[in-house]
Amino acid sequence: MSELNLILLGPPGAGKGTQAGRLTEDFGLPYIGTGDLLREHVEQETELGREAKQHMESGGLVPDDLVIKMILEKIDEEGDDGFLLDGYPRTVPQADALAEELEKRGRRLNAALLVDAPDDVVMERITGRRQCSNGHVYHVTFDPPKHDGVCDQDGKPLNQRSDDKPEKVAKRLQTYHEKTAPLIDYYDERGLLRRFDGTRDKVEVHDHIRATLATLRLEERL
Ligand code: AP5
Repeated sequence: MSELNLILLGPPGAGKGTQAGRLTEDFGLPYIGTGDLLREHVEQETELGREAKQHMESGGLVPDDLVIKMILEKIDEEGDDGFLLDGYPRTVPQADALAEELEKRGRRLNAALLVDAPDDVVMERITGRRQCSNGHVYHVTFDPPKHDGVCDQDGKPLNQRSDDKPEKVAKRLQTYHEKTAPLIDYYDERGLLRRFDGTRDKVEVHDHIRATLATLRLEERL
């Protein structure tokens, strides 16, 4: 088996999305970002989007049953060329559902990549984040666009996500520590956890993850 089935884990703003963009290019992996999928549903005002909106705007989590269904459909749609899941699972029931459903399909997870950073670092990163409607991400200080408020890649205006205001970020961090951080031990106990220091420069974080995945892929081929 040479497919890589991976998840990205870590607090909001640790740089999961930033790294996912680079890794999917490196390894040709289908990218499945739960936050992006949910925001699409909200924008298109689907039934799921209407239900998800209130939870997302409050900094809480969308109910497990809704997210599990959405992700499993997406994994099946992508076929069996591997995947990089960003933002799923975020609770132990979501992790159990993923393991169970992959097993039914004769597949398994290869690694859980934890990009970690302390609360003060992620608070500064998220509140300075700006992005265009095509999802290109910047930071007002750490990664500014060439022209203020305009995307370098497509000229679209840059906006702040509605859940990126400081009070919402504080609630998202609380949710992370209560509901998602237990997954660190969960994957460590199963021998799947790989830790990366998300406070380092994004190029360094990327190099470290890429080297780990290259080794993992070689091991899978043996
Ligand atoms: P989601 O969109 O997944 O948000 P998140 O996990 O909170 O993650 P973020 O997108 O905020 O951060 P990131 O780690 O990707 O950081 P980024 O790379 O952008 O989820 C949103 C909501 O949807 C949730 O709150 C929840 O309600 C719901 N939801 C999603 N999944 C769910 C699930 N499974 N179950 C239930 N509900 C769910 O980087 C942040 C900033 O820092 C950027 O400006 C970037 O330029 C900068 N930066 C990145 N890396 C570095 C670096 N190394 N150095 C300096 N700056 C950096």
